[in-house]
This record gives sequence, C-alpha cells and structure tokens, in this order.
Amino acid sequence: MNGTDFSEQSPIIALHRVWKYYDLGENRISALRGVDLRIERGEFVAIWGPSGSGKSTLCNLIGLIDDASEGEIHLGGREITELSDDRRSEFRNKTIGIVFQHFNLIPVLSALENVMLPLQIQGVPAGDAAGKATAWMVEVGLGDCAGQRPDKLSGGQRQRVAIARAMVTDPFLVIADEPTANLDSENAGKIIDLMREINRMKGTTFIFSTHDQRLLARVQRQVRLQDGTIVEDKRLQSN
Ligand SMILES: Nc1ncnc2c1ncn2[C@@H]1O[C@H](COP(=O)(O)OP(=O)(O)OP(=O)(O)O)[C@@H](O)[C@H]1O
Ligand SMILES: [Mg+2]
Repeated sequence: MNGTDFSEQSPIIALHRVWKYYDLGENRISALRGVDLRIERGEFVAIWGPSGSGKSTLCNLIGLIDDASEGEIHLGGREITELSDDRRSEFRNKTIGIVFQHFNLIPVLSALENVMLPLQIQGVPAGDAAGKATAWMVEVGLGDCAGQRPDKLSGGQRQRVAIARAMVTDPFLVIADEPTANLDSENAGKIIDLMREINRMKGTTFIFSTHDQRLLARVQRQVRLQDGTIVEDKRLQSN
C-alpha cells in the first residue's frame, strides 16, 4: 500500500467537530461551526443551503483546497491535517477530482489536452494520457469535440470536459462546488445525471454543492447547511 491509498474499511470522508474561521481585522466570521459529517464510499451527496451557509467552505476543506481552523478531517481513514503541504497536494492529485463552477479549463488547450493535463502532471506518457482522455471524452458524450478549444463549446459541454478532466486520474472522490450555477436548468439536470451515471458505473463518491432545490430530486443524500451548521441530513431510498 502506498501513501495515497485509501483504506477500504474507513468512510471516505469523516469530519469531526470541524470549524472554519475567517478573521477580518477585529471580526471573526465562523463559516463552519462544529460540523460532523461521515460519507461512505460510493455515495452521491448534495450539499445545499442558502448563500453564505458554508457550502464552498465545506467543499474547499474536503477537497484539500483549504485548511480547517479546528477539528479533524479524515479522508479514506487518513487524518489530513497531519500531512505536509507537499504530501497533501500529492494526495489530492491522486485521489480527488475537482469540478468548478466556472469550469476552469485552460483556453489555449483543446478539450482533449485539458483532459490529458492531470495525467501529464502525474508523469503519464503523452500517448497513454491521450488514450485515457479520449475514452473519457467519449464517456461524457463529447467524442466529436476533442480538438475544440473551450471557447467553441457551450457551458454544458465545458462542464462535461471538466468532469472528464476530474475523472481521468480515476479518483476515489469528486467534489464539485456549484457545478451547475452557470448552466440553464436543462443542462444543469443533465450534468447532475452524468455525474450520477459515473457514480453508478465506477463507484466514485460524488459530493456537489448547490442552491438549486430542483436538483435535489436526483441525489441519494441531501445535506443541508445553514449558518455553518448541518441542519438536515436526508437519505432518499428511491434514488
Ligand atoms: N475568504 C473569505 N474571507 C472571509 N470570509 C469568507 C471567506 N470565504 C467565505 N467567507 C464567509 O464565510 C461564510 C460562508 O461562505 P461560503 O462561501 O462557504 O458560503 P456558500 O454557502 O458557498 O455561499 P454561496 O451560495 O454564495 O456560494 C460567509 O459568511 C462568507 O462571507
Ligand atoms: Mg459557494
């Protein structure tokens, strides 16, 4: 087992009494207030709640983009606050895929090159990276758009490329902060359905945030945040 393998027995994510403060001069904003959360391998979870409730803060902590102020975060059984910055980046690159609200594709690269990039950063040879990236472009329904630059694609297509890029390294976990906020409702639904299909097919755990309650019918578990606290955690058997 190498240092980035996830333990099979542990929940994929466990937060214990997690607080996140932002200190602004004299004022301290508590964006998360003692959050406890456990997410098992293969779950498909929406984090929802009003603006300012702490959704992005929570996604950033789980995605190892930011540090907790207090409390413990375990990913795959590993206490991640103990990791050095380098080990944390390595751990993130190998185990977590991230999808952003604004897609964050590199404009001068083709769609395919964007999807290849995480593999190339890991040192995968270009030919192998192109093969895997092409397979994911097909998987997300964009087999014909591989050579296009992002500005030639619609918002929904760009987010599909971003999902392919998140999946190409075969992560255990995908975190998406408001992945549909820049899409119309039809495309928003399609993006969530695509993530759910990948979740079913590959067993990848997905966590996404949204303020759009219409999307909640498509998920398996709904975690509602308000003022930095989890006020509801609901599982839907039907989904
Ligand atoms: N970098 C920061 N510096 C200071 N305060 C911050 C920072 N990031 C977030 N906050 C504050 O923390 C609280 C939670 O913010 P967060 O962005 O996590 O909420 P959100 O649920 O994602 O909101 P939205 O739906 O608008 O994206 C808010 O009060 C916000 O103003
Ligand atoms: Mg947010």
